[in-house]
Amino acid sequence: MIGVYDSGFGGLSVLRALRARLPTADFVYLGDSGRAPYGGRSPETILDFAEQAIERLFDEGCTVIVVACNTVSCVALRHLQQRYTPESDGRLRILGVTIPAAELVVASGARSVGVLATARTVASGTYIAEIHKLDPNIRVVQRAAPLLAPIVEEGWEGTTIAREAVDRYIADLQECDAILLGCTHYPLLTDIIAAAAPAARILDPSATVAERLQDWFRRHPRFDTGNTGQLRVLCSGDPTAFAAHGPRFLGGPLPVVEPIAELHGRLVPAVQVAHAAGQIVRTSHRMGR
Ligand code: DGL
Repeated sequence: MIGVYDSGFGGLSVLRALRARLPTADFVYLGDSGRAPYGGRSPETILDFAEQAIERLFDEGCTVIVVACNTVSCVALRHLQQRYTPESDGRLRILGVTIPAAELVVASGARSVGVLATARTVASGTYIAEIHKLDPNIRVVQRAAPLLAPIVEEGWEGTTIAREAVDRYIADLQECDAILLGCTHYPLLTDIIAAAAPAARILDPSATVAERLQDWFRRHPRFDTGNTGQLRVLCSGDPTAFAAHGPRFLGGPLPVVEPIAELHGRLVPAVQVAHAAGQIVRTSHRMGR
Protein backbone atom coordinates (compact mmCIF):
# COMPACT_ATOMS: atom_id res chain seq x y z
CA MET A 1 0.00 0.00 0.00
CA ILE A 2 1.28 3.45 -0.94
CA GLY A 3 0.92 6.45 1.37
CA VAL A 4 0.71 9.95 -0.06
CA TYR A 5 1.25 12.86 2.31
CA ASP A 6 0.58 16.54 1.83
CA SER A 7 -0.14 19.53 4.04
CA GLY A 8 -3.68 19.63 2.70
CA PHE A 9 -5.72 19.20 -0.48
CA GLY A 10 -2.96 20.04 -2.95
CA GLY A 11 -1.26 16.63 -2.95
CA LEU A 12 -4.44 15.17 -4.41
CA SER A 13 -3.18 16.62 -7.70
CA VAL A 14 -0.08 14.43 -7.31
CA LEU A 15 -2.22 11.46 -6.27
CA ARG A 16 -4.22 11.94 -9.47
CA ALA A 17 -1.05 11.45 -11.53
CA LEU A 18 0.05 8.48 -9.38
CA ARG A 19 -3.30 6.71 -9.85
CA ALA A 20 -3.18 7.35 -13.59
CA ARG A 21 0.22 5.57 -13.73
CA LEU A 22 -0.59 2.85 -11.17
CA PRO A 23 -4.35 2.30 -11.54
CA THR A 24 -4.46 -0.96 -9.59
CA ALA A 25 -2.33 0.22 -6.66
CA ASP A 26 -3.85 0.85 -3.22
CA PHE A 27 -3.37 4.32 -1.74
CA VAL A 28 -3.89 6.03 1.59
CA TYR A 29 -3.81 9.82 1.29
CA LEU A 30 -3.11 11.95 4.35
CA GLY A 31 -3.90 15.66 4.08
CA ASP A 32 -2.90 17.61 7.18
CA SER A 33 -5.43 20.30 6.29
CA GLY A 34 -6.14 21.15 9.93
CA ARG A 35 -2.58 22.51 10.24
CA ALA A 36 -2.10 23.84 6.68
CA PRO A 37 -0.65 25.96 5.25
CA TYR A 38 2.82 24.67 6.12
CA GLY A 39 4.58 27.13 3.84
CA GLY A 40 5.20 29.85 6.44
CA ARG A 41 6.00 27.54 9.35
CA SER A 42 9.38 26.91 10.97
CA PRO A 43 11.48 23.92 9.86
CA GLU A 44 11.17 22.40 13.37
CA THR A 45 7.37 22.51 13.25
CA ILE A 46 7.36 21.00 9.76
CA LEU A 47 9.61 18.17 11.00
CA ASP A 48 7.24 17.49 13.92
CA PHE A 49 4.14 17.47 11.71
CA ALA A 50 5.86 15.33 9.08
CA GLU A 51 6.97 12.71 11.63
CA GLN A 52 3.41 12.41 12.90
CA ALA A 53 2.01 12.05 9.38
CA ILE A 54 4.59 9.46 8.35
CA GLU A 55 3.96 7.40 11.50
CA ARG A 56 0.18 7.51 10.89
CA LEU A 57 0.69 6.23 7.33
CA PHE A 58 3.02 3.45 8.47
CA ASP A 59 0.43 2.53 11.14
CA GLU A 60 -2.17 2.36 8.35
CA GLY A 61 -0.04 -0.32 6.68
CA CYS A 62 1.78 1.75 4.05
CA THR A 63 5.25 0.51 3.18
CA VAL A 64 6.12 3.21 0.66
CA ILE A 65 5.25 6.84 1.29
CA VAL A 66 5.38 9.63 -1.28
CA VAL A 67 5.85 13.02 0.35
CA ALA A 68 3.86 14.98 -2.23
CA CYS A 69 4.27 18.27 -0.37
CA ASN A 70 7.10 20.33 -1.82
CA THR A 71 7.60 22.18 1.45
CA VAL A 72 8.07 18.95 3.44
CA SER A 73 10.18 17.40 0.66
CA CYS A 74 12.47 20.45 0.62
CA VAL A 75 12.88 20.78 4.38
CA ALA A 76 12.34 17.39 6.00
CA LEU A 77 12.80 14.56 3.49
CA ARG A 78 16.38 13.74 4.45
CA HIS A 79 15.45 13.73 8.15
CA LEU A 80 12.47 11.44 7.54
CA GLN A 81 14.51 9.04 5.40
CA GLN A 82 17.25 8.81 8.02
CA ARG A 83 14.83 8.44 10.91
CA TYR A 84 12.58 5.77 9.42
CA THR A 85 14.37 4.03 6.55
CA PRO A 86 16.12 1.85 5.59
CA GLU A 87 18.33 1.10 8.62
CA SER A 88 15.49 1.27 11.12
CA ASP A 89 13.26 -0.94 8.99
CA GLY A 90 14.35 -2.23 5.59
CA ARG A 91 10.73 -2.73 4.49
CA LEU A 92 9.80 0.95 4.51
CA ARG A 93 10.64 3.71 2.08
CA ILE A 94 9.94 7.44 1.94
CA LEU A 95 10.23 9.23 -1.41
CA GLY A 96 9.93 12.92 -2.23
CA VAL A 97 9.16 15.15 -5.20
CA THR A 98 12.20 17.39 -5.49
CA ILE A 99 14.49 15.11 -7.52
CA PRO A 100 11.81 14.26 -10.14
CA ALA A 101 10.99 17.98 -10.35
CA ALA A 102 14.67 18.87 -10.88
CA GLU A 103 14.90 16.14 -13.55
CA LEU A 104 11.87 17.64 -15.28
CA VAL A 105 13.53 21.07 -15.33
CA VAL A 106 16.67 19.64 -16.93
CA ALA A 107 14.69 17.55 -19.43
CA SER A 108 12.72 20.65 -20.49
CA GLY A 109 15.90 22.15 -21.93
CA ALA A 110 15.25 25.46 -20.15
CA ARG A 111 18.39 27.54 -19.53
CA SER A 112 16.62 29.61 -16.87
CA VAL A 113 13.82 28.48 -14.59
CA GLY A 114 11.59 30.32 -12.17
CA VAL A 115 10.67 28.30 -9.09
CA LEU A 116 7.28 29.41 -7.77
CA ALA A 117 6.84 27.94 -4.28
CA THR A 118 6.04 28.53 -0.62
CA ALA A 119 8.24 30.76 1.52
CA ARG A 120 9.73 27.77 3.37
CA THR A 121 10.53 25.94 0.12
CA VAL A 122 12.29 29.04 -1.20
CA ALA A 123 14.18 29.58 2.08
CA SER A 124 15.41 25.98 2.01
CA GLY A 125 17.22 26.50 -1.31
CA THR A 126 16.63 22.79 -2.01
CA TYR A 127 15.39 23.32 -5.57
CA ILE A 128 18.47 25.36 -6.45
CA ALA A 129 20.68 22.61 -5.01
CA GLU A 130 18.86 19.75 -6.77
CA ILE A 131 18.74 21.49 -10.17
CA HIS A 132 22.41 22.49 -9.94
CA LYS A 133 23.46 18.93 -9.04
CA LEU A 134 22.12 17.94 -12.48
CA ASP A 135 23.10 21.07 -14.41
CA PRO A 136 24.98 23.90 -12.69
CA ASN A 137 24.52 26.16 -15.71
CA ILE A 138 20.75 26.52 -15.39
CA ARG A 139 19.85 29.90 -13.91
CA VAL A 140 17.35 29.40 -11.09
CA VAL A 141 15.21 32.31 -9.88
CA GLN A 142 12.99 31.61 -6.88
CA ARG A 143 9.78 33.41 -5.94
CA ALA A 144 7.84 32.78 -2.74
CA ALA A 145 4.09 33.03 -3.35
CA PRO A 146 2.46 32.69 0.08
CA LEU A 147 -1.00 33.85 -1.06
CA LEU A 148 -1.46 31.29 -3.81
CA ALA A 149 -2.09 28.10 -1.81
CA PRO A 150 -4.77 29.75 0.38
CA ILE A 151 -6.44 31.26 -2.72
CA VAL A 152 -6.65 27.81 -4.30
CA GLU A 153 -7.93 26.29 -1.06
CA GLU A 154 -10.76 28.83 -1.10
CA GLY A 155 -11.64 27.68 -4.62
CA TRP A 156 -10.84 31.14 -6.00
CA GLU A 157 -8.45 30.07 -8.76
CA GLY A 158 -10.70 31.57 -11.48
CA THR A 159 -11.06 34.98 -9.85
CA THR A 160 -9.53 38.43 -10.32
CA ILE A 161 -7.84 38.03 -6.93
CA ALA A 162 -6.01 34.94 -8.21
CA ARG A 163 -4.99 36.69 -11.45
CA GLU A 164 -3.70 39.78 -9.65
CA ALA A 165 -1.72 37.71 -7.14
CA VAL A 166 -0.21 35.56 -9.92
CA ASP A 167 0.67 38.66 -11.98
CA ARG A 168 2.60 40.14 -9.06
CA TYR A 169 4.49 36.97 -8.26
CA ILE A 170 5.25 36.16 -11.89
CA ALA A 171 6.61 39.67 -12.59
CA ASP A 172 9.96 38.54 -11.10
CA LEU A 173 10.04 35.44 -13.30
CA GLN A 174 9.13 37.01 -16.65
CA GLU A 175 12.59 36.46 -18.16
CA CYS A 176 12.66 32.72 -17.41
CA ASP A 177 12.33 30.04 -20.11
CA ALA A 178 10.27 27.87 -17.77
CA ILE A 179 8.34 28.12 -14.52
CA LEU A 180 8.35 25.18 -12.12
CA LEU A 181 5.14 24.73 -10.14
CA GLY A 182 6.90 24.12 -6.82
CA CYS A 183 3.76 23.63 -4.73
CA THR A 184 1.02 21.02 -4.98
CA HIS A 185 -1.70 23.69 -5.20
CA TYR A 186 -0.38 25.48 -8.26
CA PRO A 187 -1.46 23.03 -11.01
CA LEU A 188 -4.95 24.47 -10.51
CA LEU A 189 -3.51 27.87 -11.48
CA THR A 190 -1.72 26.64 -14.61
CA ASP A 191 -3.89 28.62 -17.03
CA ILE A 192 -3.48 31.96 -15.31
CA ILE A 193 0.24 31.40 -14.69
CA ALA A 194 0.65 30.60 -18.40
CA ALA A 195 -1.33 33.74 -19.31
CA ALA A 196 0.90 35.84 -17.02
CA ALA A 197 4.11 34.43 -18.53
CA PRO A 198 3.24 33.56 -22.14
CA ALA A 199 6.86 32.96 -23.20
CA ALA A 200 7.61 30.46 -20.42
CA ARG A 201 6.93 26.72 -20.35
CA ILE A 202 4.94 25.75 -17.28
CA LEU A 203 6.40 22.65 -15.60
CA ASP A 204 4.09 20.56 -13.40
CA PRO A 205 6.17 17.78 -11.82
CA SER A 206 3.23 15.47 -10.96
CA ALA A 207 3.50 13.27 -14.05
CA THR A 208 7.28 12.94 -13.61
CA VAL A 209 6.82 12.00 -9.94
CA ALA A 210 4.37 9.30 -11.04
CA GLU A 211 6.68 8.02 -13.78
CA ARG A 212 9.61 7.80 -11.34
CA LEU A 213 7.47 5.98 -8.77
CA GLN A 214 6.38 3.41 -11.33
CA ASP A 215 10.02 2.92 -12.30
CA TRP A 216 10.99 2.65 -8.62
CA PHE A 217 8.50 -0.17 -8.08
CA ARG A 218 9.90 -1.98 -11.13
CA ARG A 219 13.36 -1.78 -9.56
CA HIS A 220 12.12 -2.79 -6.09
CA PRO A 221 9.79 -5.75 -6.76
CA ARG A 222 9.66 -6.82 -3.10
CA PHE A 223 7.65 -3.69 -2.34
CA ASP A 224 3.97 -4.26 -2.91
CA THR A 225 1.70 -1.59 -4.42
CA GLY A 226 -1.47 -3.53 -3.53
CA ASN A 227 -3.75 -4.51 -6.37
CA THR A 228 -7.35 -3.50 -5.71
CA GLY A 229 -7.18 0.16 -6.74
CA GLN A 230 -8.51 1.13 -3.32
CA LEU A 231 -8.22 4.70 -2.02
CA ARG A 232 -8.62 5.91 1.57
CA VAL A 233 -8.41 9.58 2.50
CA LEU A 234 -7.49 10.83 5.98
CA CYS A 235 -7.55 14.48 6.96
CA SER A 236 -6.83 16.43 10.13
CA GLY A 237 -9.10 19.34 9.21
CA ASP A 238 -12.80 19.54 8.48
CA PRO A 239 -13.69 16.37 6.52
CA THR A 240 -16.74 18.06 4.98
CA ALA A 241 -14.61 20.86 3.52
CA PHE A 242 -12.03 18.30 2.40
CA ALA A 243 -14.71 16.26 0.62
CA ALA A 244 -16.05 19.44 -1.03
CA HIS A 245 -12.68 20.79 -2.29
CA GLY A 246 -10.84 17.52 -2.89
CA PRO A 247 -12.46 16.54 -6.23
CA ARG A 248 -11.05 19.70 -7.91
CA PHE A 249 -7.55 18.42 -7.17
CA LEU A 250 -8.17 14.68 -7.66
CA GLY A 251 -10.24 15.12 -10.80
CA GLY A 252 -12.94 12.80 -9.46
CA PRO A 253 -14.98 11.95 -6.38
CA LEU A 254 -13.36 11.20 -3.03
CA PRO A 255 -14.25 8.25 -0.81
CA VAL A 256 -15.61 9.04 2.67
CA VAL A 257 -13.00 11.28 4.31
CA GLU A 258 -11.75 9.84 7.61
CA PRO A 259 -10.94 12.40 10.33
CA ILE A 260 -7.66 12.24 12.23
CA ALA A 261 -6.43 14.50 15.02
CA GLU A 262 -3.30 15.08 17.06
CA LEU A 263 -3.33 13.42 20.47
CA HIS A 264 -0.23 13.42 22.68
CA GLY A 265 2.03 14.09 19.72
CA ARG A 266 0.52 11.48 17.41
CA LEU A 267 -2.03 11.70 14.61
CA VAL A 268 -4.78 9.23 15.51
CA PRO A 269 -8.23 8.36 14.13
CA ALA A 270 -10.75 10.83 15.52
CA VAL A 271 -14.45 11.14 15.84
CA GLN A 272 -15.72 14.14 13.94
CA VAL A 273 -15.95 17.02 16.37
CA ALA A 274 -18.83 19.43 15.97
CA HIS A 275 -17.44 22.94 16.16
CA ALA A 276 -19.10 24.88 18.95
CA ALA A 277 -20.28 28.42 18.29
CA GLY A 278 -19.74 31.29 20.71
CA GLN A 279 -17.95 31.18 24.08
CA ILE A 280 -16.58 27.90 25.34
CA VAL A 281 -16.21 27.11 29.08
CA ARG A 282 -14.03 24.15 29.95
CA THR A 283 -15.58 22.09 32.73
CA SER A 284 -12.51 20.15 33.79
CA HIS A 285 -8.94 21.36 34.10
CA ARG A 286 -6.22 19.80 32.01
CA MET A 287 -3.65 17.71 33.88
CA GLY A 288 -0.87 19.77 35.35
CA ARG A 289 -2.66 23.12 35.13
N1 DGL B 1 1.43 21.53 -0.14
C1 DGL B 1 2.39 22.58 0.02
C2 DGL B 1 3.55 22.41 -0.97
O1 DGL B 1 3.48 21.64 -1.90
C3 DGL B 1 1.81 23.97 -0.12
C4 DGL B 1 0.73 24.42 0.80
C5 DGL B 1 1.15 24.80 2.21
O2 DGL B 1 1.76 25.87 2.41
O3 DGL B 1 0.83 24.02 3.08
O4 DGL B 1 4.54 23.09 -0.81
